[in-house]
Amino acid sequence: MRLNKYLSKCGVTSRRKADILIEEGRISINGEPVKEVGVTIDEDKDIVTFDGKKVAPEQKRYLILNKPKLFITSLSDIEDGKPTIKQFLSGIDVRVYPVGRLDYDSEGLLLLTNDGELANRIHHPSYEVKKLYFVVLSGKVPKAFDMELLEGKKLEDGFVKPDSVKILGKSEYNCTLNISFHEGKKHLVKRYLAAFDLKVLKLKRLIIGNIALGKLEKGKWRDLTKNELDGIKKLTGL
Ligand code: URA
Repeated sequence: MRLNKYLSKCGVTSRRKADILIEEGRISINGEPVKEVGVTIDEDKDIVTFDGKKVAPEQKRYLILNKPKLFITSLSDIEDGKPTIKQFLSGIDVRVYPVGRLDYDSEGLLLLTNDGELANRIHHPSYEVKKLYFVVLSGKVPKAFDMELLEGKKLEDGFVKPDSVKILGKSEYNCTLNISFHEGKKHLVKRYLAAFDLKVLKLKRLIIGNIALGKLEKGKWRDLTKNELDGIKKLTGL
């Protein structure tokens, strides 16, 4: 692997800036400073140092949290005077970032990782990773509601169409359903349903791609299993 690529993989800096560090003589391979941009290394054998300190690829971490409602999806201690999910993430020795946000009043499955490429792919609609939500609604519920919902609707930022809709229970003014989208637009589920004059009373994300919240307790996190990780990588072509 090229040295600049390795330095970027280790989180030292971008590839382009790594070339500058190399030219400045700040990078050594097995104790010998290198000044030649374009040099390659053997990741398994060579020891690379930056200003004398060993660099190593960042350990990738993938986990899910069951976000309770009334917490902000943010890693600051507090945001807009409201508590954040940070307090649930103790005991994780690397920095991980949420893949997409759940609203303050939404709950359920939140994936966190430091694997930027996988995060982008899960979020980007072109990879079509479906996110399934459980929703409780209030408002006048039309008759063939599921068919209507499946047709899609133009919102202010473009046409949106769910991948699936399943009505779980329905009365004249209330409805519970599962609905899935592969887009990650802000407040998508609420805005989509508001376009049908319906108000979301409860919103819980249950599934992202092949990863299900399952019985994970509120406020608890766990690492992805190998199967889950292999599955989501496969789904996103990684
Ligand atoms: N759609 C929303 O409207 N809110 C969420 O939190 C997630 C999806």
